[in-house]
Amino acid sequence: MSPRESIPAVPHVAIIPDGNGRWARQRGLPRNLGHRRGCEVVRKIVRAARSLGVRQLTLYAFSMENWARPREEVDAIMSLLDSYLKRETDELVERGVRVSAIGRLHLLERDVQDALRELERRTEANAEMRLTFALSYGGRSEITDAVRKLAREVEAGRVDPDAIDEKRVRAALYDPELPDPDLLIRTGGEHRISNFLLWQMAYTELWTTDTLWPDFSETDLRRAFEFYGSRERRFGRTGDQAPRRGEA
Ligand code: FPP
Repeated sequence: MSPRESIPAVPHVAIIPDGNGRWARQRGLPRNLGHRRGCEVVRKIVRAARSLGVRQLTLYAFSMENWARPREEVDAIMSLLDSYLKRETDELVERGVRVSAIGRLHLLERDVQDALRELERRTEANAEMRLTFALSYGGRSEITDAVRKLAREVEAGRVDPDAIDEKRVRAALYDPELPDPDLLIRTGGEHRISNFLLWQMAYTELWTTDTLWPDFSETDLRRAFEFYGSRERRFGRTGDQAPRRGEA
């Protein structure tokens, strides 16, 4: 059996890459070096996920709350992001990865917004895997922005309030096509969702590890997938009624 066949398929994996700062502190290094190393790990894990058959990978790279960090740290992360987006373009194009971003993207620096748009444009025909960066993102902001969008539709007389159902709410989210994650991986030892994909994670399986993001490896990713393979997903139904894997 090839290594890929022995690993359960996980269609949509969401990741909270936590622990860059602690990784650096443990080594007496500035936090920014932790983020730099974190970026390299993103590169490695994107490759690994694709080769393990992941169809959609969503990474929480910068939260709305992260804006409150010291200015120098925010600037350093933005500059890492900018160089990541530029440096990785050719490889992502070649590997068939389609890149997009969700969040209050207008708050990002102009250079980062331009680099994102360029990467989205250059990868839009790719279909091997979708890679979504959650940037300047918060689950509550996303729902708030969706409510605003719907309220405007109601105000303009285009939508009847009674016609607002889950489908319409989803359609008002940043990326209505983003499927619900099957598995959430959180590194760095915390056991919380931290305002990530609140709408989409209603039935996501959660896997956490003490490993800090800069130390996260393909072996850890496989471990998370094995955990996922051992779960029985019921989506609120009983064991007898639950859809089989891939049905929901
Ligand atoms: C978490 O570590 C990381 C962040 C809040 C943001 C930076 C993320 C990366 C560099 C990886 C994302 C990828 C790209 C392409 C930019 P932390 O600083 O919260 O760590 P701590 O909890 O140990 O302080």
